[in-house]
Amino acid sequence: MSRQKVENLFTYPEYPGCIDIRVLGRPLLLTENPRDFELAGKVLPDLPLKPFLKWPGGKRWLVQRAPAFFEQTYDRYVEPFLGGGAVYLYNRPRNALVGDVNPDVICVYNAMRSSWRGILSELRRHQIRHSEHHYYAVRDAEPHDAVEKAARILYLNRTCFNGIYRVNRNGKFNVPKGTKDSVVFPDDNFEAVSNLLQAAVILHCDFEEIVSRCGAGDFLFADPPYTVRHNNNGFIKYNEKLFSWSDQQRLAVALSAAHRRGANVLCTNADHESVRALYDPGLFEMSTVTRFSSISGAAASRRHFSELVIRSRGRHA
Ligand SMILES: C[S@@+](CC[C@H](N)C(=O)[O-])C[C@H]1O[C@@H](n2cnc3c(N)ncnc32)[C@H](O)[C@@H]1O
Repeated sequence: MSRQKVENLFTYPEYPGCIDIRVLGRPLLLTENPRDFELAGKVLPDLPLKPFLKWPGGKRWLVQRAPAFFEQTYDRYVEPFLGGGAVYLYNRPRNALVGDVNPDVICVYNAMRSSWRGILSELRRHQIRHSEHHYYAVRDAEPHDAVEKAARILYLNRTCFNGIYRVNRNGKFNVPKGTKDSVVFPDDNFEAVSNLLQAAVILHCDFEEIVSRCGAGDFLFADPPYTVRHNNNGFIKYNEKLFSWSDQQRLAVALSAAHRRGANVLCTNADHESVRALYDPGLFEMSTVTRFSSISGAAASRRHFSELVIRSRGRHA
């Protein structure tokens, strides 16, 4: 088939020059980029997946900007602050231990693993009925069925104001409707996500329970909510309600112990001296990555942010 004929088929921003065509329903990858020749002929499930949840602090930008951080060999991939799972979905590990303390997050992953078709058909139903009235009716609802629950969370996540996640004191989602109306995306690939999740242990727990299980052969990626120590200069303790300063201290102790047991640790965090001071430079090397962020779209709020990357020194082979 000529390049012109396949031009209008699927292309992958992660792999410039790669085009996916299907022969009798079987994916086949074409590439013009020499770097990606080795991918030619591989089936689609080996390509990075896109997050299906829009999540605060999502790291899709990081895997695109600095993929080298994640080019690791390991027996098991471990991610205790899963959220939207951008790095997990990018890496597509064949053996994983993942978790999050947020029950909504875990509900979605569990249902996606067991019943992706059910979620997709529920989302299609929400798409047809989507309106202001429907949004608030769904927001108020408390389904008991796991698939309906997961579809409700995804529906709200995709149509709420700015994709924010916020709950009231009773744990009830309370973000108003936003301007986005797409509930089902053309590039949703729930089947591939579900297949990937078959090879994962998914836990609803505090990070320490997961980190304490890590050792040799594990690649441990930790992306906590960013919190810094109050420096008495009015510095905002960003996200302190979600993750206190003592949680940050607990994390540093747990990651250091995991490193000593032989795990390769990679942690993203707030680029702040208080956070750097928690990590022993004899165990960890630190670098920064900057990114451009537009919070409201207004010129004044567009800024470059610097984030800290903390990595096991002398990474274990
Ligand atoms: C910055 S987000 C992770 C984003 C993720 N890397 C992504 O790409 O979407 C941090 C996550 O940590 C979770 N979290 C907060 N406190 C936690 C704790 N004590 N133990 C485990 N997870 C926690 C939050 O629910 C949230 O999903």
